[in-house]
Amino acid sequence: MIEKRVFGSMPDGQAVQAYSLTNTKGTSIEILTLGATIRSWKLAGDKTIDVVLGYDTVDDYLADQGYLGRTVGRYANRIAKGQFKLNNRKHQVSTNLQGNALHGGIDGFHNRLWQVADNQAYDSNVVCMSLYSEDGDQGFPGNLQVTVLFSLDDSNCLTIEYRAQCDQDTLFNPTQHSYFNLAGHDSGVIYDQKIKAYASFYTPADEQAIPLGDIKAVAGSAFDLSHELPFGTLIDQKDPEIRSASGLDHNWCVDGFSPDQSKMNLAAVVTEPERGRQLIMRTSMPGLQIYTGNFIGSLPIGKGKVTYSPYCGFCLESQFYPDSPNQPGFPSPVLKANTAFVSRTSYQILQEV
Ligand code: GLA
Repeated sequence: MIEKRVFGSMPDGQAVQAYSLTNTKGTSIEILTLGATIRSWKLAGDKTIDVVLGYDTVDDYLADQGYLGRTVGRYANRIAKGQFKLNNRKHQVSTNLQGNALHGGIDGFHNRLWQVADNQAYDSNVVCMSLYSEDGDQGFPGNLQVTVLFSLDDSNCLTIEYRAQCDQDTLFNPTQHSYFNLAGHDSGVIYDQKIKAYASFYTPADEQAIPLGDIKAVAGSAFDLSHELPFGTLIDQKDPEIRSASGLDHNWCVDGFSPDQSKMNLAAVVTEPERGRQLIMRTSMPGLQIYTGNFIGSLPIGKGKVTYSPYCGFCLESQFYPDSPNQPGFPSPVLKANTAFVSRTSYQILQEV
C-alpha cells in the first residue's frame, strides 16, 4: 500500500511529496520527491524504531551536506579534477570537493525535484520517480532520462532499480546514500554493529580518496571484511588509508560482478548485536563504498530533534569504482547513446533472527 502526503515546498513554491510504502508485515518506508530520498524506514512490529537518518523539513534537506538518504547522480563518488575523456573529447564537470567532482557536482540529482507519474498506483508497493537531466547538466554530455523504482516486498526487502537512457554517450553512476543505524537513527554511534562484506578486492586510493588504479586483494589487509568485524574496530585501525579518511570511506569490489548487470550479488551483511537485527545488501553494480559516517555534521538537527554526530550511521553505496572514467582497468561507467541502462541494488532488514 502506498500513501502520499505533502512534505513541504521548495523555495520556488513547488510541493515536495512524501510517498510511504507499507508492506503486509507493517514495515514502512517513506520516500521524498526531493532527491528521490529515503527519509525513514520504520520496522515492522515496532514503528518507534526508524533505522535511517533523515530530516523533518525541506529546508533541512537543502542545507544538508551529507547526502542523507539521497539518490545521487549523475556520477556518485569522485571524478579526479572533474575531468575525463569520452570518445577523444575532454570534458570538465562541476567540481565541489578539493577540486574534484563528488556525487554529481554542485547541483547534483540529490537536490532536484523528481517526478512521479499521474498514473502511479497506490495499491502496489512500487513507487517510480523520474528526472530529466539536460545536455550539459553539471558539464555531463547528453540529454539523460532517469527513472528510479523503489519496491518494497513482504520480506522487508527494498529493491531499487535504476533505469536511464541518453541521446549521446555519457557517464552514469547512480547510488543511494542512506545512512543506516540498525539500533535506530537516534541511538548514537554504530561502533558495535558488525559488518561482513563479500568482496575479495578493493581499490587503494590517495589522501583525496582518488583510486591509484590498482585492484588489490583484501586478504591480510585492514580491508579484509570476509569475517564480520565491529565498525568500531574497523574505524580505529592504524592503517594509513583508514586514518586519512577518519574511518571507512573506501571502495570494495563486489564478488561476482557481471558487466551486463544481469544478476544481483550479495555485497554486505551488517548485524546489530543486541537484537540480532540484520541488513543484507545486494547489488548488480561492481563497487561498494562502505562509509562509516566520518563527516556527519551536527547541523541540520535530525528527525525528531535528534542531533547527529560522526559515526552515528553507515552507508552502503553501490557504484562504479570512484574515478572509473580515468581508469581503463576498472569496469566502465560509460552509458552508450540510446542504450538502456538498468541496475539494481536491494536492502533487506531481517528482524529478531
Ligand atoms: C561519500 C564520500 C564521502 C562523503 C560522503 C558524504 O561516502 O565518499 O567522502 O562525501 O559521501 O559526506
